[in-house]
Amino acid sequence: MWKLVFLGICAVLAVCVLALHSWVWAWAKSPNGGVPAYPATWPKPLYNFQANPPTSAGIALGKKLFYDGLLSADGYTSCASCHQQFAAFSTYDHPLSHGVNNQFSLRNAPGLFNLAWHTNYHLDGGITHLDAQPLAPITATNEMGETLENVIQKLQNHPVYPALFQKAFGTSKVSTRLFTKAISQFLVTLVSANSKYDRVMAGTDTFNLPQRLGYELFMAKGCAGCHTPPLFTNFAFENIGLPIDSTLNDYGRMRVTQNPQDSLRFKVPSLRNVQLTMPYTHDGRFSSIDQVLQHYNSGVVAHASTSPQLRKGISLTKFQMGQIKAFLYTLTDTAFVKNKVFADAVVEKPGMQHHP
Ligand code: HEC
Ligand code: HEC
Repeated sequence: MWKLVFLGICAVLAVCVLALHSWVWAWAKSPNGGVPAYPATWPKPLYNFQANPPTSAGIALGKKLFYDGLLSADGYTSCASCHQQFAAFSTYDHPLSHGVNNQFSLRNAPGLFNLAWHTNYHLDGGITHLDAQPLAPITATNEMGETLENVIQKLQNHPVYPALFQKAFGTSKVSTRLFTKAISQFLVTLVSANSKYDRVMAGTDTFNLPQRLGYELFMAKGCAGCHTPPLFTNFAFENIGLPIDSTLNDYGRMRVTQNPQDSLRFKVPSLRNVQLTMPYTHDGRFSSIDQVLQHYNSGVVAHASTSPQLRKGISLTKFQMGQIKAFLYTLTDTAFVKNKVFADAVVEKPGMQHHP
């Protein structure tokens, strides 16, 4: 009797799970509300798509703005000059990125992908809405060095932008609100979910031995507690025990909250595409993944705010480090960084040239 009841409950549960699964897939795949497709196993994005539903005209406008040096004082420093697609939209090989007049940004430019899932933006979480984010680099004197009024003026007087705003939003009057909405529409399409890891999880590929052992270590050593799959971050602010850089004096989250508990805490970065986003950590002090792993193994300097699970470091043999690295490389999404849909229409622009 009880066996039958139990089996009955199991059957009902199985049907529910299946129904939910196909519903989520259907929802995620439908062009409904312009929400970009993402795997059914992911949590729902947090970005408010109802308030700014992406359309093809809006996304195209946002992309044009992202690649346009017109948004900066010198006419060359576009968003894309610091956020390079081949580096998963981070600044490749520069600890700090270059702004106008050969100035440096305070921090290492993070990769841009899966932004619709973030709870807040910047490594100290100082920005709470994606639509507000572009205002920071545009007006920062060491980044794009412009004023918003000027940018809006330049766009309004431009030969093609007013028509593109008309197409995207039904008005040719350029405003900060519509300008930032267009950029967000492009940014939220940057979904990176097609790495080997994703294929393994979907059952269409398999890890080789070092990758599998690395994955097991990643789970067993507590890395996943902060770099939580499937997005490989829990979006928390943590202090991993890096000594302060006394020239930058960047105390991270404490700059926003003024709370000493938050001293040296930075947003947990996603490890997706980590192979492509070197150098690492908020100031780019580590030029390789090996150096980061070496830090966890033996470099942690515990402060009052250092995360408890890292106070004693995470011991890793050279062999284990190699395996973890092999696993981390499976998070590289080649299709994403090569996707022409996200690339500039014009291949070579002055603003895209290499910095010294
Ligand atoms: C001079 C280089 C530079 C330029 C130009 C630049 N960025 Fe950034 N971007 C950065 C840096 C550095 C950070 C990290 C800032 C911080 O944490 O304080 C960042 C952070 C971001 C983030 C937050 C990512 C996260 O994980 O929290 C977004 C989104 C972003 N930039 C988009 C843009 C857009 C859109 C533009 C153009 C309007 C732009 N950036 C222009 C360097 C740049
Ligand atoms: C307590 C949370 C926490 C744990 C546990 C943790 N990390 Fe991190 N990790 C972070 C934070 C926060 C940063 C960024 C620090 C900064 O910017 O200064 C980071 C940075 C990194 C980076 C550099 C990424 C980049 O884009 O800059 C790598 C690689 C990394 N961690 C791998 C690991 C591995 C592997 C483990 C397990 C051995 C691990 N982490 C455990 C929180 C954590």
